[in-house]
Amino acid sequence: MKQKILVTGGTGYIGSHTVVELQAAGYEVVIIDNLSNSNVEVLDGIEKISGIRPYFKELDCNDKAGLSLLLKEHPGIKGIIHFAASKAVGESVQMPLPYYRNNIVTLLNLLELMPEAGIKGIVFSSSCTVYGQPDVLPVTEDAPVKPALSPYGNTKQINEEIIRDTIYAGVPFKSIILRYFNPIGAHPSAEIGELPNGVPQNLIPFLTQTAIGIRKELSVFGDDYDTVDGSCVRDYINVVDLAKAHVIAMDRMLSDKSDDKLEVFNLGTGRGVTVLELINAFEKSTGVKVPHKIVGRREGDIEKVWANPEHANKVLGWTAKETVEDTLVTAWNWQKRLREKGIQ
Ligand code: UD1
Repeated sequence: MKQKILVTGGTGYIGSHTVVELQAAGYEVVIIDNLSNSNVEVLDGIEKISGIRPYFKELDCNDKAGLSLLLKEHPGIKGIIHFAASKAVGESVQMPLPYYRNNIVTLLNLLELMPEAGIKGIVFSSSCTVYGQPDVLPVTEDAPVKPALSPYGNTKQINEEIIRDTIYAGVPFKSIILRYFNPIGAHPSAEIGELPNGVPQNLIPFLTQTAIGIRKELSVFGDDYDTVDGSCVRDYINVVDLAKAHVIAMDRMLSDKSDDKLEVFNLGTGRGVTVLELINAFEKSTGVKVPHKIVGRREGDIEKVWANPEHANKVLGWTAKETVEDTLVTAWNWQKRLREKGIQ
């Protein structure tokens, strides 16, 4: 029988790509999402790719009674992948309390309900933001966690601490914390991808919206950093590669491949790319120009960070495979698909 997995935030960007990969690996998926930053049509995209429409319920993980009921209605869920969270760094500075509630109470609710429901493990979406500006690059999982620069970043650190304390207290489940670098791109079918609400804050959706003419010009935040061309360096990882790592992490917990009850992995390519290099790579691989200008630094930006992914490569047997050039083409194809659908 197929093992059942609960995916919170499963209609979101990384969530939807992970649902597709879980289905391809033979898992049955139950999605919950409050649709605060996604919409139900994502389910059509998932179904087009996999041929399977996952169960979906509109539910906020803050609603503990609702969660408890869902777990009773879907007995036999073996694992959780917890994506549901607010993720806009700037917004979190403006309104910290909703960020703390959304990103922390939701995790508490899930962890509290897991033992009774007999759930064996939880994969948690964390971020390289926990490292701040690392002293040593590429950054390994042993690098110290630095004071967070935003409430959003702080919620990820607190989430990790909550999971650590809970696991070490001897609960009957395991956890794998995945620290993502910068996920970009879309499914090669262009049936699902990133769909930000309003003006995108992240680089790639702003870039593709500029390339297609929705935005006039992309602002490059700073060219006076200590990097090859002065713009910031990040480790851009293909979203499908990232999704696949979740499936491996889930397999690992459910089959008790490791005795460790808590594991942490960096998910990145190991390659640092500047903002200007990325724009250049996009123009080369798509043949489309991106009007851009250099502006001042964005407050709170890290100068440079990229992953040492060796731990994930060795222990999970997972490697990011797609090149940044091919990944940018998938992001562009998705932007064109959105236009076909009349979504601006
Ligand atoms: C940040 C967080 C990450 C979080 C993500 C969610 C860090 C290190 N990373 O990623 O944990 O999950 O937000 O939103 O805190 N840029 C421009 N012009 C733009 C937009 C971005 O030049 O219009 C530049 C930024 O300065 C940065 C790079 O592009 O150097 C990537 O920015 P972005 O996509 O926003 O991601 P991060 O800030 O790296």
